[in-house]
Amino acid sequence: MIDQTLLPAEYKILRVTTLEDLCEAIGSLRIRGAPALGVAGAYGLLLAVEEKWRQHDNYYFDAGHTKLDTFPPITTVAAVQRHLDNAAKQIVATRPTAVNLAWAVERMKTVYSKRWQSPQEMLANLYREAMAIYEEDIDMCRALGRQGAELLKDGDNVLTHCNTGGLATSGVGTALGVVFAAVEGGKKIHVYADETRPLLQGARLSAWECKQRGIPVSILCDGAAASLMSRGLVSCVVVGADRIAANGDTANKIGTLSVAIVARHYNVPFYVAAPSSTIDKSIPNGEAIPIEERSEEEIREFCGVTTAPKGTRAVNPAFDVTSHELITAFVTEKGVIHPPF
Ligand code: MRU
Repeated sequence: MIDQTLLPAEYKILRVTTLEDLCEAIGSLRIRGAPALGVAGAYGLLLAVEEKWRQHDNYYFDAGHTKLDTFPPITTVAAVQRHLDNAAKQIVATRPTAVNLAWAVERMKTVYSKRWQSPQEMLANLYREAMAIYEEDIDMCRALGRQGAELLKDGDNVLTHCNTGGLATSGVGTALGVVFAAVEGGKKIHVYADETRPLLQGARLSAWECKQRGIPVSILCDGAAASLMSRGLVSCVVVGADRIAANGDTANKIGTLSVAIVARHYNVPFYVAAPSSTIDKSIPNGEAIPIEERSEEEIREFCGVTTAPKGTRAVNPAFDVTSHELITAFVTEKGVIHPPF
């Protein structure tokens, strides 16, 4: 995976080979963005199986399952299932808000919980499921981008929050993917990227992705979005989502709610672009969405430099919930959904 904490200064590919390292990478946002977290979670369970095999001598792990008969026969299906149950809990606990992580782990669980004849057979099917989650994500981005591009007009100034491009998915992205699809379709689009305090996903990652594609982008302090909208400079807002409740209430990066309220005030369309896997029908409304609280240090420091008096308390909710009433439409891979949601 690309280590997203180092961008834009350094483009480094991180090779993750243990479950522990994967959980660290997720927790510290080396990999982030709801759909990418889902894929990482699925791969995490493959790493967990590999670890189980590693405990044995003469271990040979072949994720491509071409030499499955070389696995040690002492490992039972039940033992691997127990090991994977623990791994699944560990993975899901890393980041509670983005439902795609739990969703992908649950898909893997449905596979490994079946009555397999052998661990080898289980692994082959787990491998296929993880690859399917990855490949479906690529297709989803493409379809979602096509649907959303219809909403953008030539010459639009699109404001976005956080990062929702290729870095956040396996494909071209969700909200930024909509912009990329519109540009590929020949429309000229200018992107306003909120810097997205405290971890600067907008300034570091969205701006980097737009620049890679030659798309004009201006970054702004999160607090400047209202000023831009009050001056009529924003054609529409397109953001991603980490979890969408059954009624359409949407959790996304902290600061999204302020953008939505301001957009409504100034009559600017506010679109949420997300795959159907981000919709959590088990949750009736936004109140039930678990919100990740991150460390106070992320607020008290800026790029490793202390910016507040020693001992100052900080609050750091990583996400907020935007009421469905503030959302103009959802863009999914299956189509655009207008109210009532
Ligand atoms: O904390 P992050 O960087 O993982 O938060 C990401 C977001 O809030 C994105 O907007 C969301 O996951 C959609 S990514 C396509």
